[in-house]
Amino acid sequence: MMINETYRLSNGVTIPKIGFGTWQINDGPDAYHAVKTAIEVGYRHIDTAQGYGNEASVGRAVRDSGVPREEIFITSKLESHIKNYDDAMNAFYETLKRLEMDYIDLFIIHAPWPWSEMGKDCREGNVEAYRALEQIYQEGKARAIGVSNFDVDDLKNILNHNTIVPHVNQIGYFIGLDQSKTIDFCRKENIFIEAYSPLGIGFLLENEIVQEVAKSYQKSPAQICIRYLLEKGVLPLPKSVHKHRMIENAEVDFSLSQEDIKILDAIKGDPRRWEDIN
Ligand code: A2P
Repeated sequence: MMINETYRLSNGVTIPKIGFGTWQINDGPDAYHAVKTAIEVGYRHIDTAQGYGNEASVGRAVRDSGVPREEIFITSKLESHIKNYDDAMNAFYETLKRLEMDYIDLFIIHAPWPWSEMGKDCREGNVEAYRALEQIYQEGKARAIGVSNFDVDDLKNILNHNTIVPHVNQIGYFIGLDQSKTIDFCRKENIFIEAYSPLGIGFLLENEIVQEVAKSYQKSPAQICIRYLLEKGVLPLPKSVHKHRMIENAEVDFSLSQEDIKILDAIKGDPRRWEDIN
């Protein structure tokens, strides 16, 4: 099954090809049950964030799953407003405490700017915060480090002023959203791409072209969206609180033809909807 397969990051760390996204799953029973169920059905890669507020439930679900900690890949993210070394360091150790873990698999800067001030120039702050991540990595507390929502200029800033090339850039990426500039740059620099909102937070499932392609493969639209990203060599992070959908999203052991990939490539997203979620 695809969730048992792995990609390899530039530092040799392996990462399960599909991650379970936990954005917008409330802390407490919701996040606990969702993550526990995801692990039960086979997911071995869980994506959380300080900003999601659900790290404690994620940690508890992982512990209670009975699956050894080292068999599950855990990602969390530094809150977007933290842009200095000390606060980044402290926040990271708070994450470990909430997760009740002594290391994390991947820790990334959530965004190049605070969500409340999107677009703000935080170049210096990103270099400082990333220095903390480098220290955490060197201490072996994170097996890989990286960034999220960084565009080419944001990445160049890190490459110019820090030492460790980010192992990962997690970006919003799905059929219809053109991320080619960022992806091309990341490929060149050996920065691995993870895709959040692989279903366009759900609205792509209503797209007629996606539905038609799905029919021709006897798959669901969600499976087409997820398979499309795997065909691009990136790592999708689908989110669902429903067990049958978690299973469906993981059953993507099929290939899309080059022709169908082209058809899907030609879909133009509705930028208003993307702005709504970003
Ligand atoms: P739910 O959690 O109620 O299942 P994305 O991963 O792009 O952010 O999309 C997540 C949204 O898509 C959520 O609203 C989720 O709802 C829904 N979703 C996830 N998987 C499926 C699926 N296989 N079929 C239909 N909707 C899905």
